[in-house]
Amino acid sequence: MRIPLSFKGQSVFVAGGSSGINLGIATAFAQAGANVAIASRNAERVAQAVEQLRQHGTQIEGYSADVRDAPGIAAVLQQARDAIGPFDVLVSGAAGNFLAPALGMSANGFKTVVDIDLNGTFHVMRAGFEHLRRPGACVINISAPQAFNPTKLQAHVCAAKAGVDMLTRVLAMEWGPEGVRVNSIVPGPIADTEGIRRLAPTPEALQRMTQSVPLQRMGRVEEIADMALFLASPHAAFVTGAIMAVDGGSSLAGGRDYSAY
Ligand code: NAP
Ligand code: COA
Repeated sequence: MRIPLSFKGQSVFVAGGSSGINLGIATAFAQAGANVAIASRNAERVAQAVEQLRQHGTQIEGYSADVRDAPGIAAVLQQARDAIGPFDVLVSGAAGNFLAPALGMSANGFKTVVDIDLNGTFHVMRAGFEHLRRPGACVINISAPQAFNPTKLQAHVCAAKAGVDMLTRVLAMEWGPEGVRVNSIVPGPIADTEGIRRLAPTPEALQRMTQSVPLQRMGRVEEIADMALFLASPHAAFVTGAIMAVDGGSSLAGGRDYSAY
């Protein structure tokens, strides 16, 4: 059941918002009354997501942009601000992943994931700042357990997401005096997402992953969205620089061994 919070009339921008967890976050804000803009690379996926989000009756805008392209994402943030007004909430969740040992990835393979996850988050935050409603806005970065659990076959993601959490902490300090809060959400394994399809591609791997979660189940997209709503709400008015795990306890046991999956 969703926490009954209202974001009526507020403006929310979700980078990487065309599918999965990020679309779930965009949906929750739209259901709670917010006007929402999303951006991702694939224009067709953006259009589909926009159509889905419009069912909730608020203003929805969609843009095609790659977070690796700093001027491109800056232009889209400007267009979105012109369309829905200064952002009360800015979510940075675009990411890429594949399983590979460090010796099995080229320099470009490593760089690609760091560019999307870490540099992309910097681009979204750096260009997004001027469009934040200040004071009062809230930035939410989508991190991962790889940020703090060293995990084989995930050198690129571990490096990138650790950087994302450090950006969260540093910019919470720099932007706190401006009345901007900055937090990360660390999702555990979330059912029916692309991230899990890549990390646990067989039914057996999925079962092993599920059994390793202390709460003995996969999480739901809506449960990550609930944390985003909470962080953006007045209930979290004194929360900044926090790395919030929403993972059924799954990161407590350390990094997974995906080579055994
Ligand atoms: P997903 O459905 O693949 O979502 C990724 C989104 O980012 C898509 O909308 C994708 O759309 C967009 N994107 C990818 N590269 C981009 C780029 N260069 N520029 C702009 N947009 C880009 O994956 P998900 O599993 O829901 O993951 C969402 C977030 O949760 C990620 O940050 C991930 O690290 C994190 N996470 C997920 C899990 C999980 O269990 N799934 C666990 C921990 C953390 P386009 O292809 O159109 O660009
Ligand atoms: N193993 C090793 N290297 C891989 C790989 C794999 N499974 N998949 C991609 N790479 C390498 C490529 O070989 C390439 O390196 P090269 O030029 O030296 O050959 C590099 O990564 C970039 O690949 P490319 O396909 O050109 O990148 P892209 O920008 O089109 O896509 C990805 C980025 C690879 C991350 C792609 O999987 C993607 O778009 N992911 C988004 C969705 C996603 O990952 N969702 C889950 C989020 S947790």
